[in-house]
Amino acid sequence: MTRSVFITGGATGIGRATALLLAQRGYFVGAYDIDDERLAILDNDLKSVGGRGVVGHLDVTDAEEVGRRLAEFHETAGGRLDVLINNAGLLNAGRFEEIPLEVHHREVEVNVKGVVNGLHAGFPYLKSTPGAVVVNLGSASAIYGQAELANYSATKFFVRAMTEALNLEWGRHDIRVIDMWPLYVNTAMTKDVSTGTTTSLGIRLTAQDIAGGIAAAIEPTLPRKVLRQVHFPVGTQAKALAAGARFSPAWLTRLVNKRLAGH
Ligand SMILES: NC(=O)c1ccc[n+]([C@@H]2O[C@H](COP(=O)([O-])OP(=O)(O)OC[C@H]3O[C@@H](n4cnc5c(N)ncnc54)[C@H](O)[C@@H]3O)[C@@H](O)[C@H]2O)c1
Repeated sequence: MTRSVFITGGATGIGRATALLLAQRGYFVGAYDIDDERLAILDNDLKSVGGRGVVGHLDVTDAEEVGRRLAEFHETAGGRLDVLINNAGLLNAGRFEEIPLEVHHREVEVNVKGVVNGLHAGFPYLKSTPGAVVVNLGSASAIYGQAELANYSATKFFVRAMTEALNLEWGRHDIRVIDMWPLYVNTAMTKDVSTGTTTSLGIRLTAQDIAGGIAAAIEPTLPRKVLRQVHFPVGTQAKALAAGARFSPAWLTRLVNKRLAGH
């Protein structure tokens, strides 16, 4: 039996690194994206690491296309969907009022509706595959609302709530729903980003760090399994911020976030 993984936004960054890592670990990989050129490069790279799988065009905001791609992939992968990774995302940084409204709306379309589309279309295939896992790409910005990333951060709070709720709701279908909480990762997404927190915290993680975190979260160690961990902060900084927010009074969490953002 070959396990299968469907990854949205797989052409670059975290999606690409995860596709390559899971292919090397024997998964049948489906990597989908709007960026056809980079998908073609990934296709070659998957073959050169001896990986098996498919790449294909997908705009996660198009519910009909999401449904079609998942159905095709499920069939090609031998009637299995072991892992669904809702990874496609957009980030716009800056003062909220200075970012055009349509840019905020597009971020919501991709980061929120894209995830809803993937979950809705993926459900029947996940349900029929024993031990299936959903990995949503959340963010450390879902720990406390982030200045200069207000809309992005809010979309990741949506992902957090969806993850928590479906983790409860889909347990009875043997589907584990989790999310990753990385802090800044050095990918195209953060290339031109300069905010208070990129200055105070830096951009320290690599796409490979997150891919490794995803691979570990999919197949958790016994303690993590027993504790039924839902959120997976990646890196020391995100782990410290998550622990701080959990154990500090609300005023202190606010103050820490205000200071880190330089406001
Ligand atoms: N880079 C970071 O600092 C960071 C931190 C925490 C969480 N994340 C999250 O990780 C995920 C991946 O981010 P990344 O850093 O690899 O970004 P990236 O920009 O390198 O890659 C994102 C990919 O998503 C694709 N994409 C964009 N819109 C799409 C759409 N409508 N349909 C399908 N694909 C689409 C892009 O073409 C791109 O290949 C995102 O959800 C992001 O919010 C990133």
